Amino acid sequence: MALLDKLNWRYATKKFDTAKKVSNEQLNTLLDAIQLSPSSAGLQAYRVIVVSDPKLKEQLREAAYGQQQLTTASHIFVFAAETGLDSLYVKNYIDRIAEVRGIDRSTLSIFENNINNNISSQTEDDKITWNKKQCYIALGVLVSAAAEAGIDACAMEGFDTAKFDEILGLKELGLTSAVIAPIGFRAEDDHMSKAAKVRKPKEELFIHL
Ligand SMILES: Cc1cc2nc3c(=O)[nH]c(=O)nc-3n(C[C@H](O)[C@H](O)[C@H](O)COP(=O)(O)O)c2cc1C
Repeated sequence: MALLDKLNWRYATKKFDTAKKVSNEQLNTLLDAIQLSPSSAGLQAYRVIVVSDPKLKEQLREAAYGQQQLTTASHIFVFAAETGLDSLYVKNYIDRIAEVRGIDRSTLSIFENNINNNISSQTEDDKITWNKKQCYIALGVLVSAAAEAGIDACAMEGFDTAKFDEILGLKELGLTSAVIAPIGFRAEDDHMSKAAKVRKPKEELFIHL
């Protein structure tokens, strides 16, 4: 199937088949895709928590207004933004670029200063919002990669952020939850699996100038 066919095949899965689990190999493919997601300045100022523990899934379902995706899914991805983006975080990132690309760190100082200037001009809340936006990009990559691999997923922001942070101990890790995606395989009786795609017509969506 070509990518467009797969994007037509996918849908926001409401109920997963609890008998079907995503294999480690399939899971790793999705982790690879998320790792390759683009992010602003390449900072990847987020972590992704992968939940497979049934008890945690139950707790998370309660904190997601009872949505059954959370307990029927094989795994739940929780995209969590860094809350303490600072010059040390940036320093570690710049160190990594120098190491991976084998270049002199001093050639990156303008880039590093630009990022630090950007960060210091933002409030703490603005920075978290910025990092949450990056989470959504990674979410988009996951949703497409899952479709490509024939794995179902549901992007979700219908959950209580404070409760998720509490259940997963995210505050202690300097993180806050942004968006989630349960993954697995659609249940045969998921009422949405046969629903036609509802999208704006192209003339309403695109503006060609
Ligand atoms: C950021 C985001 C948050 C969403 N939150 C939820 C949610 O909490 N629960 C849910 O069932 N679907 C959720 N959805 C799924 C959308 O309703 C769905 O993607 C949209 O209606 C288009 O349908 P399709 O994905 O099946 O093509 C969310 C989607 C996105 C992108």
